Amino acid sequence: MQQHRLYSDLAHLFPLVTPAADYAEEAGYWRQALRRVLGPGKHSILELGVGGGHLLSYLTEEFQATAVDLSPQMLELSQQRNPGVQHWQGDMRTVRLGRTFRAVLIHDAVMYMLTEEDLRAALATARAHLEPGGVLILAPDWFAESFPGTSVLHWTHRAGGMELTTIEYAFDPDPSDTTVESRFIFIWRDGTELRVEQDHHVMGLFSLATWIRLMEEMGFESVVQRHAPREGGYGDCLLVGIVR
Ligand SMILES: C[S@@+](CC[C@H](N)C(=O)[O-])C[C@H]1O[C@@H](n2cnc3c(N)ncnc32)[C@H](O)[C@@H]1O
Repeated sequence: MQQHRLYSDLAHLFPLVTPAADYAEEAGYWRQALRRVLGPGKHSILELGVGGGHLLSYLTEEFQATAVDLSPQMLELSQQRNPGVQHWQGDMRTVRLGRTFRAVLIHDAVMYMLTEEDLRAALATARAHLEPGGVLILAPDWFAESFPGTSVLHWTHRAGGMELTTIEYAFDPDPSDTTVESRFIFIWRDGTELRVEQDHHVMGLFSLATWIRLMEEMGFESVVQRHAPREGGYGDCLLVGIVR
């Protein structure tokens, strides 16, 4: 069940919370990682937790893409942005499409895996959808050792007469468990109307060593590819796992 307002009743705000243009640079790292393992060709790729399809939109010309997400509203957004892509509703821990791909991608959606058990289940899904020699690419926003602690981020985007300010308050209410939280406040003006809404996301936080251990346990040979952090300091590496 989808509990995040940003992916359900507030999904229409998503393209302004995190505009597709902001993914261009990062998409270059994913393209390079895919090409490094798979070489040239229009390879089949599967994204789990496709969200608005912003990252994927930079890869669909070169690769044959399929997408999964939990949220019907997010699937609709991604479908509009990526009309040639087959979209399926499903949970990355349990979904089985009955076919395999050359690559499975899980971008910032992997942060919604809250326990090692969740992570193992998502890795098992990836494994079940990969051909021998296929590649899994993951991009956690934070690791336990690099989580910045209590922090406040805010940003404003405008498009089509609408202006949206997002305030994110990220914190770790219980450092002894594997989760952190973000409280969001969305303030938007559409014409003369001003609206304010809140959302609450709980996200998994694991050490890099835990990610690598679980990937190895689930049959992936793993490497870490560092890159510049995304805007706001989120995610500065790709975890690349090749099916052994
Ligand atoms: C931040 S958005 C992803 C944005 C995406 N990277 C993009 O480029 O547009 C996170 C997505 O993960 C999805 N999600 C969360 N938990 C999931 C699960 N267990 N299985 C599948 N999708 C999930 C949410 O519905 C949401 O659409």
